Amino acid sequence: MAQETKNGAERRLIRIFDTTLRDGEQSPGNSMNMEEKLRVARQLEKLNVDIIEAGFPIASVGDFEAVKRIAQTLTKPQIAGLCRSSDKDIDRAWEAVQYAGERARIHTFIATSDIHMKYKLQMEPAKVLATAVKAVKYAKGYTSNVEFSCEDAVRTRLPFLAEVVEATIDAGATTVNIPDTVGYTTPSEFYNIIRYLKENVSNIEKAVISVHCHNDLGLSVANSLAAIQAGAGQVECTINGIGERAGNCSLEELVMVLRTRHDILPYYTNVATEQLTSSSRLLSTITGIMVQPNKAIVGANAFAHESGIHQHGMMMDSSTYEIMTPESVGLAAGALVLGKHSGRHAFKKRLQELGHELDDEMLNRAFVRFKALADLKKEVFDEDLDAIVADESREE
Ligand code: KIV
Ligand code: ZN
Repeated sequence: MAQETKNGAERRLIRIFDTTLRDGEQSPGNSMNMEEKLRVARQLEKLNVDIIEAGFPIASVGDFEAVKRIAQTLTKPQIAGLCRSSDKDIDRAWEAVQYAGERARIHTFIATSDIHMKYKLQMEPAKVLATAVKAVKYAKGYTSNVEFSCEDAVRTRLPFLAEVVEATIDAGATTVNIPDTVGYTTPSEFYNIIRYLKENVSNIEKAVISVHCHNDLGLSVANSLAAIQAGAGQVECTINGIGERAGNCSLEELVMVLRTRHDILPYYTNVATEQLTSSSRLLSTITGIMVQPNKAIVGANAFAHESGIHQHGMMMDSSTYEIMTPESVGLAAGALVLGKHSGRHAFKKRLQELGHELDDEMLNRAFVRFKALADLKKEVFDEDLDAIVADESREE
């Protein structure tokens, strides 16, 4: 699906498949109760993601009920339920997602790498292939919207991966997912895997290629981006990058890469980026797991400027040190954090914002006091500045 831009260039839609409530929720410390999952799902709807993977219905009664409730409540995104490639799993997933009507998706998977087939499934490749095809056909009995995932695709022999992808598309899969289950790949390798599928699977144009990258080597966003450039049309990701082990591709990072570098990346998403900060904070509040301060896009310091040189530049023109505006991710305005690296310009500006107009002499003295205090404290707050000015006024 392409969109015309103002200057006539074509942009390709990248569908955002959010799995915060499934892959994210199954990671340590991130479990949520039904009400919490519903709050996150509502926020994801506001964020305008295309598909929400709401859970793994056969995993537990709680998971089943949450997926069902989310499917009953939301009205915009597609709602997916995960299931293994067995009739029982697929029945249970459908039982839960059916309430989303036309927007219901069944997401079924089986592992295709030699390691997983040998040690986990103890199945021969031919049996795995037949099971995958049977599962997709069975799911198609419920809905036309079926996604199939080759678990551990990155460590799967490429000819076999292509065979499974071709057969499952023939069986009716409308989305085929190529997960980097163990976060092992690199951008150039993953680019080549997606290109290989584009060039060696004869019916590949009949399905959307999806990618699902884990972050074990810190490459999940870069790998997802490489896959998009190779032709993927859907990215699976999570808020704050939560997920198994080191997590999944971070939704906010991937989406802001596409938005910020639209000058060289001819893609777009439907995400309302102004909802990114609230989505991140809601999830942290619910799980109690805060993101690290220097986390891209949603970390507390992502738009904070402390050093004097940077603060001065920012006051002249914010584009000196900001490649995206805080407003674009839903932050009210750029924060100038006053600390020991701050300069006179930022100090004076903050005082003026607080209503303190000091003459040069008084400003100099106040600045010396401020620097002494900043050496003792990590951050100097507005109340500290008020106190410094009050002291200076008394001493005059
Ligand atoms: O990482 C993975 O392979 C998964 C699949 C179930 C899509 O989460
Ligand atoms: Zn995963």
